[in-house]
Amino acid sequence: MITANQLRQKYLDFFKSKGHVVIPSARLVPENDPSTLFTGSGMQPMVPYLLGETHPLGTRLVDSQKCFRSQDIEEVGDNRHTTFFEMLGNWSLGDYFKQEQVTWMFEFLTKELGLNPAQLYVSVFAGSPAINIPQDDETVALWQSCFASVGLEAKVGERIFFYPESKNWWSRSGTPDKMPVGEPGGPDTEMFWDFGAALGLHEVSVWKDEACHVNCDCGRYMEIGNNVFMQYMKTESGFVPLPKRNVDFGGGLERLAAAVLNNPDIFMSSLFDEARAIIEQASGKKYGVNVDETFAFRVVLDHIKAATFLIGDGVLPGNKDQGYFVRRLIRRAVRLARRLGVEEALIRQVSTAYIETYKDAYPELIEKREMILKELENEETKFGKSVEQGLRELKKIVEKNQAITGTDAFNLYQSFGFPLELTTEELARTYNLSVDENQFKTDFKAHQDLSRAGSEQKFAGGLADHSVETTRLHTATHLLQQALRDVLGGHVGQKGSNITAERMRFDFSHGEKMTPEQITEVERIVNEQIKKDLPVRFELLTVEEAKARGAIGLFEDKYASVGGKIKVYFVGDYSKEICGGPHVLRTGELGGFKIVKEEAVSAGVRRIKAVLGV
Ligand code: ALA
Repeated sequence: MITANQLRQKYLDFFKSKGHVVIPSARLVPENDPSTLFTGSGMQPMVPYLLGETHPLGTRLVDSQKCFRSQDIEEVGDNRHTTFFEMLGNWSLGDYFKQEQVTWMFEFLTKELGLNPAQLYVSVFAGSPAINIPQDDETVALWQSCFASVGLEAKVGERIFFYPESKNWWSRSGTPDKMPVGEPGGPDTEMFWDFGAALGLHEVSVWKDEACHVNCDCGRYMEIGNNVFMQYMKTESGFVPLPKRNVDFGGGLERLAAAVLNNPDIFMSSLFDEARAIIEQASGKKYGVNVDETFAFRVVLDHIKAATFLIGDGVLPGNKDQGYFVRRLIRRAVRLARRLGVEEALIRQVSTAYIETYKDAYPELIEKREMILKELENEETKFGKSVEQGLRELKKIVEKNQAITGTDAFNLYQSFGFPLELTTEELARTYNLSVDENQFKTDFKAHQDLSRAGSEQKFAGGLADHSVETTRLHTATHLLQQALRDVLGGHVGQKGSNITAERMRFDFSHGEKMTPEQITEVERIVNEQIKKDLPVRFELLTVEEAKARGAIGLFEDKYASVGGKIKVYFVGDYSKEICGGPHVLRTGELGGFKIVKEEAVSAGVRRIKAVLGV
């Protein structure tokens, strides 16, 4: 039986043999995309290329992309949800289309992985009059000929199922009606693995005698991959074909591994073997015996893996933005480990096991090993302290009032990070009291609504519309940095930036407050470059070449690197900067530039807020 690590390699090799170039995974935190906190699918970093930008490595690409879906935190605990997963992806950027994709996929699944074709089912786009896109009969015929090649008659309604755009349409924002103007999308064909046929009874037993369908949630069928025919873009007046027809395939490695094992519990895949063994050893409990314990095992397994990868990509535990999720993952893992009876520091050991498991596929884990383990340990210790503090406060409240309200419990959570679950357990165990959980939930929700309103403001609205705005502002930061260097001197370097659809924030090294004259001069230079309508383009250069050409930026930023070279963006001849993109094509698209604020951030670092279109 092949391991999941071998499966990943087989996939990359298979597509390499079909002329694809293997590209490295992008970071879990998208660069320059304020519309989303995390990379949640393989295609996210590919959007500029799907929209038509030329990829420097060609038109056939393959990778395994690290993904994190924060919205799934609460779902973890069943047999198939994880927050972190790897998405295997292959892309045709205006190269091959349906015929090759369907045939290769079938070959990969049945020949390379040896999956039994009789357990494979597929869904196909049924067409939509609302958006004037027809039923995908071509793909049905392709699947039918694949199945026929192994002696199976694949009838519509038995092995192939039509679904409308609610199921068989893919875009980052979902169904066609939800897509913003400028967003690419297209019909897709999904592949499902039928565990029921082979296994008979399992933990997910609801389906055992019931009529079921591939998109049913009962667990009998698992989606193992999605072939998106990314060929349309939404415009004000409906969908139009993209300049080139693309293929975007995404398949969860963990799910494919589950199909290979013919076991619907993805936590049984070899990717979890070492980590699972550590938890079994520390807890003296066996995975898969008791339902509650298995739930706890899964949460610990998932959350520590996700935290390990996130920290490895530079997201440190904290109270805001991405860091908040890392904190939540670690604290929840610690809590659930306690439920398994593990009091001593477990996180470090489990994380070490994952680093070992993934070190060949993601060498950054080895590079960052000490930092990752230190951060995890610190957070675990901090949480331990919050728990002690919370317990002391709880004692005080109970001794004073002989009771504790839901609002008290919420305040404990809010002030000390003391979870409701611990309040309930402690009250029951030590004081024989209970708490009004509904009141807690009401307070919690009110708080959440407030912070959501805050974050919606910050990460405002729909994608492409804003990403166009964001891209414009991003290009403007390059002009700004160069203009600052012209006016203030070569000591100016970027210290950070944050771009939303509305404004840019740019931090840079400089010791004094800028004078009004300097600000005006910087604005004038930037606007001058905008008016020249300079072309923006990039070249892939070695670090030495980039230095020789006078590029500025972080030379160690490997995320701007593609296949060992770094991307250097040129705005005309005016600015040369190492950067991952994306950018507009010409500066004329930017509109007028205005600095709205200049202020100090810390010693030697100033911050500019600026807007476009004025
Ligand atoms: N982009 C497609 C997905 O994430 C393949 O499902």
